[in-house]
Amino acid sequence: MDKIVIHGGKRLAGEVRISGAKNAALPVIISSLLTEGWNTFHNIPDLMDVRTIKRLLASLGVKCEGKETLRVNAGEITNCEASYDLVKTMRASVLVLGPLVARMGRAKVSLPGGCAIGARPINLHLKALQALGAEIDLKEGYVEARAERLKGATIYFDISTVTGTENIMMAAVLAEGTTIIKNAAREPEVVNLADVLNSMGANIRGAGTDVITIEGVKGLQPTEATVIPDRIEAGTYLMAAAMTEGDLTLMGCNGDYMEAPITKLKDTGLAISSVEGGLRVKGTREICSVDVKTLPYPGFPTDLQAQMMALMTVGKGISVIRETVFENRFMHVNELLRMGANIAIEGNSAIIKGVQNLRGAPVMATDLRASASLVLAGLAAEGKTEISRVYHIDRGYERIVEKLSSLGADIKRIT
Ligand code: EPZ
Repeated sequence: MDKIVIHGGKRLAGEVRISGAKNAALPVIISSLLTEGWNTFHNIPDLMDVRTIKRLLASLGVKCEGKETLRVNAGEITNCEASYDLVKTMRASVLVLGPLVARMGRAKVSLPGGCAIGARPINLHLKALQALGAEIDLKEGYVEARAERLKGATIYFDISTVTGTENIMMAAVLAEGTTIIKNAAREPEVVNLADVLNSMGANIRGAGTDVITIEGVKGLQPTEATVIPDRIEAGTYLMAAAMTEGDLTLMGCNGDYMEAPITKLKDTGLAISSVEGGLRVKGTREICSVDVKTLPYPGFPTDLQAQMMALMTVGKGISVIRETVFENRFMHVNELLRMGANIAIEGNSAIIKGVQNLRGAPVMATDLRASASLVLAGLAAEGKTEISRVYHIDRGYERIVEKLSSLGADIKRIT
């Protein structure tokens, strides 16, 4: 098991390139299931989750070539079953359900099971697929879905699920008639997917709002498209600058879709400005404590909650962070406490009293964003921090050790 070892206290400075968004790349790559012929996707991040989805698509007979520029051909789908050993490592695999039923009339996908941050059911995905006319059976931990041809319907999500919205959008593009998704997720990754599907010949309107209308079409054509930059990776580097009184330029991202985290970080005293091709961020000696409540887009993203908590552990004052999206996304708290943080949990709120400084310690990553929070804490802490189970971080941060090292961090990966 690899570990990341950080000797904290180094100021970060320089340029870092923000990679393509993991949560846009995954549905975009999967959307190729709806087409025959070669699709070309640009700005694909080199992440474990991307490698997993390429393995999953290959198991369905799909051809994938390349990395940052990825070519995908789903002309020959020879298998419609996504196996447990692939799905259990990555929940986003359930996104193959909608396109497979739309294109092939059937799909068998392992139920994702829970993960560290919560139960994460897919009941809303399945209920919506049934509304489109699919027959759904749950057998031995698998979902089996079948439909001669899906028929448009009006879907209401009582939770604005991101992958639920994406799954139904990909199911509905080939359905007969009109589908309206109400209380749809508004995330920019949903908009990126809708734009890619429309470039394939789909007819989707309203992506980015809470009502998405999809007119079914007969078929889709392969396309060439680009994945948006990763706003969660960008937010993480903004906080790295804040925690080390650093001076960074984030290239390849311009602050689009980041109003909530940027506004909140400016309230802590961080100087963030747009520069040619990117964002400039300068940390300050004093970090003001602020309150945060995570919300679906355009609110403060739950995927930046753990990282923000790391920052608030060294804020001047008291910060209350409320997690409203997932039921168990405070796994990083115990590890931050080991580094000398002062945090108390009450229900879905964490009360963080800022301390003078953190102290390095051996800690354990529990999920993707918690591991990023521990890296940030290690960058600011006095002494050595050793983070175990770093496979979590490889899922969502491309070359994080190299990127931070090039910015002056004393960070190494040991096997
Ligand atoms: C997406 O997960 C992201 N993953 C998550 O990022 C992100 O945290 C989440 O959206 C919220 O923004 C991808 O896009 C691949 P949801 P998703 O369905 O779609 C409940 C990361 O770190 N729910 O919007 O799985 C669910 O339990 C990952 O990159 C149901 O109850 O999240 C959660 O409490 C972590 N039934 C809430 O809704 C359902 O059928 C929001 O979940 C679906 C969801």
